[in-house]
Amino acid sequence: MKRINIFLLGLSLFLSGFHVGTVSGQENKPQSTPTLTLPRAEGSIKFLAIGDTGTGSKQQNELARVMVDYRKLFPYEFVIMVGDNMYGGEKPADFKAKFEDPYRALLDQGVKFYASLGNHDESNQRFYDLFNMNGEEYYRFKKGDAAFYALNSNYMDKRQIKWMEDELGKDATKWKIAFLHHPPYSSGAKHGSSSGVREVVEPLFIKHGVDVVFTGHEHFYERIKPQKGITYFITGAGGKLRPGDVKDNSPLTAKAFDKDMSFMLVEISKDTMHFQVISRTGETVDSGSILRRER
Ligand SMILES: [Fe+2]
Repeated sequence: MKRINIFLLGLSLFLSGFHVGTVSGQENKPQSTPTLTLPRAEGSIKFLAIGDTGTGSKQQNELARVMVDYRKLFPYEFVIMVGDNMYGGEKPADFKAKFEDPYRALLDQGVKFYASLGNHDESNQRFYDLFNMNGEEYYRFKKGDAAFYALNSNYMDKRQIKWMEDELGKDATKWKIAFLHHPPYSSGAKHGSSSGVREVVEPLFIKHGVDVVFTGHEHFYERIKPQKGITYFITGAGGKLRPGDVKDNSPLTAKAFDKDMSFMLVEISKDTMHFQVISRTGETVDSGSILRRER
């Protein structure tokens, strides 16, 4: 009997040791099983939105692995980056450590990244091929029924404003989506709403029927209650986090998450945009849908 007990003890220690080894080997994997709230409709536009990524930190890499996991369920075709793509140095080794290494699996799968410039980014990023900016600080690209406007909110000069007027004015695309670094609306305690940027861009967004705006700068996630018919998102926790920075009871907040890092999955199908926000542990922290504005 004693011998059997010792055998069982040895067996259980062996199994528990084996188990611990397995768990520690998986510590960077999402703790939640990836689950999708998006419809994954045939022919829809599928993309991901991230911001303030460029640290090269362990956390950025962990979040990137969750992005890869979710691509198996939701095969997004491209990623929009809302700026602060590089913190600190911008040498080739920095582009490798802070962008190419974390997103290597996605780049290898042919996912395209479209960047906009944040306050930490040098203008020369516009020549970096993998950011697909075609040498421009602000630019437009089209995917199916959606036109995307990458803006440079560091310098809202006359030239850029005229370009926005001209391009948005003649754009008959069903969906108009803007992405820029500084958030026209924010409940962040450290920064808050970028009112100077808002004064310039909001009238153009309203006049020309921009439907949705993606921003960053704040290192958290926030969905702003629609402002004059437009939905603004902040998705600035792709490489850094400012925990607890969203002001309590802000009248702007529809939903916020500042406890961990996050990214957004987005699907546009006909007149509806669906979104699902995922944390570093793979949990869904927000989801919903937005109807296209009447124009
Ligand atoms: Fe920033």
